[in-house]
Amino acid sequence: MDRIYITTPLYYVNAEPHLGSAYTMIVTDTLARYYRANGHETFYLTGTDEHGDKIAQAAAQAGMEPKIFTDQISASFRAAWESCGFTYDHFIRTTDAYHVRYVQEFLTRVYESGDIYFDRYGGLYCFGCERFYTEKELTDGKCPDHQTVPEIIEEENYFFRMSKYQDRLLRHIEEHPDFIRPAGFKNEVVAMLREPIGDLCISRPKSRLKWGIEIPFDQRYVTYVWFDALINYVSALKHKGEEFFEKFWPETEHFIGKDILKPHGVFWPTMLMAAELPLYKHLNVHGFWTSEGQKMSKSLGNTVSPLEMKEKIGMDAFRYFVLRESVFGQDADFREDALTARYNADLANNLGNLVSRVLAMQEKYFAGVVQPLGADWPKEDQELRDKFAQAEIELKHHMAELQFHRALEAIWLAVDHANRYVVQTAPFTLFKEPAQRTRVGVILHHLLEGIHQLARLLAPFMPNTAKELRRLLGLREGEVADGTPWGESFAPGHKVNGPTVLFPRIELPAEA
Ligand code: MSP
Repeated sequence: MDRIYITTPLYYVNAEPHLGSAYTMIVTDTLARYYRANGHETFYLTGTDEHGDKIAQAAAQAGMEPKIFTDQISASFRAAWESCGFTYDHFIRTTDAYHVRYVQEFLTRVYESGDIYFDRYGGLYCFGCERFYTEKELTDGKCPDHQTVPEIIEEENYFFRMSKYQDRLLRHIEEHPDFIRPAGFKNEVVAMLREPIGDLCISRPKSRLKWGIEIPFDQRYVTYVWFDALINYVSALKHKGEEFFEKFWPETEHFIGKDILKPHGVFWPTMLMAAELPLYKHLNVHGFWTSEGQKMSKSLGNTVSPLEMKEKIGMDAFRYFVLRESVFGQDADFREDALTARYNADLANNLGNLVSRVLAMQEKYFAGVVQPLGADWPKEDQELRDKFAQAEIELKHHMAELQFHRALEAIWLAVDHANRYVVQTAPFTLFKEPAQRTRVGVILHHLLEGIHQLARLLAPFMPNTAKELRRLLGLREGEVADGTPWGESFAPGHKVNGPTVLFPRIELPAEA
């Protein structure tokens, strides 16, 4: 049986869910739904990253104990994702006991194999990133992410012999060119690996930071938050049992944003090598979202909240927009005007009108009862069927390439075609001639088949819409088996429901 293991990054619990985190969730949820529907055994993981300086500071600011603080925020993340309808199979917290145990096991294993050593180290440390920087990595002496001057810190710590695995990783990437994709990000990692990567400081003295997983072989230290968090991808599977791990780990598809490429593209694979675990299959990297051309930030008040979007336009329309408007792997800009334009054109007009006009005619002309198809299909009927078949083939190809915008485009070509078919065959005119009424019944039957296909094709992207389409067609979920030929979805005498407005138009102020 085909399998897939899909992961998201673990979200820091010091910020609310926003478009950046929601985007990874939408992409991964779409894929999980797609692969499940296509018969893959699927395991889809998300969760929260709860240790380290950042979280300790956020808890202190809130005047709370870190554990109580993280319990609260992790729960609110989970509630938000649930309200968005994301279908992850497991939600991991890095404070979960099984994760803590496994991280300590992992550390012990690598320590005993000689790949962790103790050393004195001085360096430039960015508290925001929770890591040491080399001079070369700074821009004008500042952390490129936080625009702050790193502090010079000198202390004794544990180090992971990352450099030992540098060449092996480089070879692996050369032998597996799609290990990191799209290619631009692979090239970035290759460039990192062409310079000395050094070793990784993986402990923090408790005198400075208590909130972390204790180093199992030295109680004076806690584990560096990234070393702890990355291991979640394995600990979550191990928690379900060794067999589960063996089954899913080779099928790992990690999804991350481009800012965390180095930990996932360099730290993580070398950690896996040191622990003698196989490497993940693919690291899939997406770009960054800006909002109206600017970096999203609380202070600018321009962060896009998935929950507000759900309230405003519905979760499906939000999913449609972010998947249709962006190219996976590239940066994208969230603009209200683009959102309204796409919503009105693609959803309200194109898809919404198709469904409502077909169901309205079916109700008016045949009291909702689906009419039989004849044996000989005119060319235009065959073309309509072929257009949907074509959309499905293209969809498959684009999904494998993570080209979600293309996949949706392919579906909308079929929607466009169906709308043109309505205009060309003109059932509303034909119905006026009694001799043509059988033909009208056939035309509408084909269109209802088209809508049924849409419910299937759209399900991974717009699950609520797909459900509503099935309800309108009077079909229960799973009632019609996949692969049922066009023309056989509706039993003789089947009755569909009357029309409804799927996507009410958003009226612009100027139009109102
Ligand atoms: N906790 C780490 C990940 C550990 S994984 C073992 C982390 N968390 S985060 O909450 O800061 O970021 C989570 C994800 O959101 C990352 O993939 C990040 O790239 C993504 N995004 C944050 N802001 C974003 C945008 N503005 N646009 C797109 N994605 C963005 O990093």
